[in-house]
Amino acid sequence: MVSQQVQGLLTPKRSLLKNHTNFKGSQMPFNLNSSVTTPPIDYAVLENKFAELIRLQDLDAKIDDNPAWKESFEDILEAAFVEAFDSEEGEPESMLFLQRTLYRINRMKFFWYDDLDNYNNENSRFLFEVQSRIESAWQEWEADHVYTGPVSAQEVTARLQEKVAEDLDPDPSERDLYFRNETSKTGYRHLLAIASIDGLVEASQMSRVLGGVSNEIHARLTKIFLEEYGNGNLSRKHSSFFKSMLEELDMKTRPEAYFELAPWQVLANINHSFFLCEQKRNFLQYIGALLFFEVSVPASFKNYQLAGERLGLSPEAVDYWRLHIKEDERHGRWMLDDVALPLVDFYPSAAWEIVRGYDQQRFISARAGQAVFESVRQAERG
Ligand SMILES: [Fe+2]
Ligand SMILES: [Fe+2]
Repeated sequence: MVSQQVQGLLTPKRSLLKNHTNFKGSQMPFNLNSSVTTPPIDYAVLENKFAELIRLQDLDAKIDDNPAWKESFEDILEAAFVEAFDSEEGEPESMLFLQRTLYRINRMKFFWYDDLDNYNNENSRFLFEVQSRIESAWQEWEADHVYTGPVSAQEVTARLQEKVAEDLDPDPSERDLYFRNETSKTGYRHLLAIASIDGLVEASQMSRVLGGVSNEIHARLTKIFLEEYGNGNLSRKHSSFFKSMLEELDMKTRPEAYFELAPWQVLANINHSFFLCEQKRNFLQYIGALLFFEVSVPASFKNYQLAGERLGLSPEAVDYWRLHIKEDERHGRWMLDDVALPLVDFYPSAAWEIVRGYDQQRFISARAGQAVFESVRQAERG
């Protein structure tokens, strides 16, 4: 449902709607008409139109020729912000629209061996603006959930050691126990479907922070990256293990095949990684987030491995989990001792940003985990 505030925002757009009729027969491939913009906003229609637009030849030139469309899209974004960020939990429909829109822009940072037209607008001014607007509104909202402010370098070291010790061996949560003891084959397949969106391009964000000057910290990060990429051996690449799991269960292995199933919280998790790795000013936060991932994976993946084994699946259908339980135990140690702690000495006054990155990732991952759990339960209920 659209809140009253949103309705207020939409009202002035009625004048813009008249302009949209001018697009009929113009170069723009679609019109925004009242069925899209009259409350409640039809996010599904908007999303499909945005997916078309992003592949246009010379998008910026076409936008320049139709400034009213840009204004109208910006109005819709503002309306979606009001709706999405009005509450602490986020409103699901508008949040899904914003996170999918952001994801469609972010995915162009990777190469997918797909149609080259998918990259036509990689450097579009319009898309850059859309991305910046969504990221700044969303990140401002995220910042209200986790507050980690400046602390001394000494305190950073103590906190990181304490948090890592906690996350290496946490008490199992309700959802951990559910996966371990109760989830069905349907639930397990649903879990893989959602996880595949990131799992099939796993660790790709890391490639975005590795270019640049070398030192011991950089060398260690490179070593972790190489292991994630199977040292150049495709069959050893971590995402290949994910693909094998999908094949064993006769599931689709095309990247993004299950995009539609991803709850907004999962896309927010992926978009947050892009936000951290694409802006070098966020490097310390990125390191904190990566430290959390590597440290927390063995404990959480253990539940999925046990689920697969309990369901009688083949070793290949659980190998991805097993591999991570083994390798990430080492990656977590390297990330703490050889990357995060040396960075505290390197940037003593900004080192608290590593803790912030860690805390925020812990929160965003837990939120995504809960959403996946709920989605799995729903799939199991049929
Ligand atoms: Fe991995
Ligand atoms: Fe790893």
